[in-house]
Amino acid sequence: MATSNTPEFDLSKLPDVSDISPETITNRVNAINSLCPNPRQKFIMERLITHLHQVVSETNLTTEEWMTAILFLTRVGQTCTDTRQEFILLSDVIGVSALVDSINHPKVGDSTENTVLGPFFTEDSADIPHGGSIASAKESGTPMFVCGRILDTSGQVIPNAKIETWETDAEGFYDTQYADRQGPDYRGRLKSQQDGSYAFRGIVPVAYPTPGDGPVGDLLKSLGRHQFRPAHLHMMIEAPGFETLITALFFRGDKYLKSDAVFGVKTSLIVDLQDVTSNEEARAKGFESAPFKLLKQDFVLVKNEEAKKARAERAAKTVLDEAKVEG
Ligand SMILES: [Fe+2]
Repeated sequence: MATSNTPEFDLSKLPDVSDISPETITNRVNAINSLCPNPRQKFIMERLITHLHQVVSETNLTTEEWMTAILFLTRVGQTCTDTRQEFILLSDVIGVSALVDSINHPKVGDSTENTVLGPFFTEDSADIPHGGSIASAKESGTPMFVCGRILDTSGQVIPNAKIETWETDAEGFYDTQYADRQGPDYRGRLKSQQDGSYAFRGIVPVAYPTPGDGPVGDLLKSLGRHQFRPAHLHMMIEAPGFETLITALFFRGDKYLKSDAVFGVKTSLIVDLQDVTSNEEARAKGFESAPFKLLKQDFVLVKNEEAKKARAERAAKTVLDEAKVEG
């Protein structure tokens, strides 16, 4: 007899085998899965199977449609490489990434809201000084000066916060999308000052399409959706004792704000750019001349214990007690 590392089944818990039908199959799968020793995994699988079976039943899914779905997911997997993650893109365009992000980062007081990280963050950003430029010397596009303060939810400044920022160039591409990338560009790492302030120079980023040459692009086309993200400036801010803030700022007036392909836009993250035409002010900020755009934005971080409490409060409001169990 073959041996295996499967657990001992308590067969008495399983329903009879004689009655598999659309009405009984869900209970049968959940009954055998209930042997799972990990309560969180057991709970998630039970909900997943129940909802998935419900979708199949209530749509009277045909064999051809189920095979279409399987072949689509197969293509999604086959499109993934070391540098391309088509499953994350799929998660993004069906709103699951944004949903998971929102659940795990509830807003506390006037804290800055999180949004999706996206696939273009890299660890190799160069350190730049306060007020320095994140863009290469061959700057193109519209110059932009970004400044503000890093605060906690009580309004106290946070010095020495680590700030990572990244954005597209004027063509709508991140540096990592160029095959001949020499090093980091349109991205930088800086620290908040003793008074909590930060400042850097960049350009006004532009809207760009998510990858459209794979199965997820085909899905969007079949749904009649476009594949664009509105222009945004990514920011990631870390400080000891605080939740890492992963967010992005969007610009009022962008035509894709309401239809971001990955659902990353939140009203509180839409900002206004100011036009500055003074050459004197431009030179004081490190530009050769005016005009430039000014973006003033404070970021409010949440203490670890505040975030933990907010997550617990959300979990307490969920209908199912099992949902409160963390993995
Ligand atoms: Fe982005």
